Amino acid sequence: MLKHSWIIILGLVFALISFMLMLNNNRKNNMEYTLSIIKPDATARNLTGDINKFFTDKGLKVVAQKELTLSEEQAKNFYLEHKERPFYDGLVSYMTSGPVVVQVLAGENAIAKNREIMGATNPENAEAGTIRKEFAESLERNSVHGSDSETSAKREIEFFFDYNEITNKK
Ligand code: CMP
Repeated sequence: MLKHSWIIILGLVFALISFMLMLNNNRKNNMEYTLSIIKPDATARNLTGDINKFFTDKGLKVVAQKELTLSEEQAKNFYLEHKERPFYDGLVSYMTSGPVVVQVLAGENAIAKNREIMGATNPENAEAGTIRKEFAESLERNSVHGSDSETSAKREIEFFFDYNEITNKK
């Protein structure tokens, strides 16, 4: 009887440790989704495939993607947080000047990872090997956009995509 109790206790301890390790692993993995936009300067040069390779080479997966031309209303609403900035009108007219590719990227720490892959907003400050260093033409024509926080990622993904358009859900 005593021997059986020990086996049961050992089993319970083992199960508890496995459960804790699993929880810890999930927390460490930090799977995220982020919104990416391939901007008109890049679509005009047929760079979508080249840019997607930057994402996939660094472990991000494209789990939704569509090409569209933003209406003035969409561009104004998408960039609403910049409404008071002097570059707002120019940004809206540039973003509506040609097709864009909107996409959802998924992966471990996808939000920060995508910002690293893109490089600094101003290509003059972007590091070698980043998308903006490689392809951007100027601060405005900087080839890609990526969400800058969890809150913006959620808002921006919902701005363009329905839940059922995203593959590989968490
Ligand atoms: P993005 O990551 O799409 O977020 C806002 C965009 O505004 C930014 O990339 C730039 O393309 C643009 N932007 C930011 N600062 C300026 C600026 N000073 N002049 C012109 N465009 C800007």
